[in-house]
Amino acid sequence: MDIVLRSFINRLESLADNAPLDVLKKCVLESDGRQLPIEGYVGFSDQGYKRNVVHVSSKCEVAVLCFRKGQITPIHDHGSSVGITVVRQGTMTEELFDKKPAGMIIPTFTRRFHTGELSYVSLTTIHRVSNIHAETMVTLNIYFPPLTSMNFYNLENTNVEKWVRDYSGLQANQGYTRNVLS
Ligand SMILES: [Fe+2]
Repeated sequence: MDIVLRSFINRLESLADNAPLDVLKKCVLESDGRQLPIEGYVGFSDQGYKRNVVHVSSKCEVAVLCFRKGQITPIHDHGSSVGITVVRQGTMTEELFDKKPAGMIIPTFTRRFHTGELSYVSLTTIHRVSNIHAETMVTLNIYFPPLTSMNFYNLENTNVEKWVRDYSGLQANQGYTRNVLS
């Protein structure tokens, strides 16, 4: 793995468990997440947006998400993870939603992030991310702790679909790191 990317991951691993978003943000800005060499982890799919995990441990996750034109995530939350997204290529459209007491979600507003810009995911964020532009879109996503559960929502009813991944076998600093996409 590239030494700059490795040192960024080492720095993330050195943070306290459940580090707050402010601390994570400082770490990403000081490591200049807009320049980290992630080219080897860029990979697209025609079936939908592609999530390429670079590193995951019990503490954190680093992933490169790749969207072709028209590809879109479900409406989702992030379980107990906070996160930072760095737009590395293209323009990201983010639609935000509020959850009403009865369980329905309603759209609140939509915003765009351009190459080099950062967006943040808190414990209460419910959103949907898409690439509506002709140019492909690549984002670098850092989650603290790893994204192991999400709820998928819809606008028609209060049904929620659970998405779960099990990283429980991983120890801090002994995580799984991909060299590059094969
Ligand atoms: Fe998200």
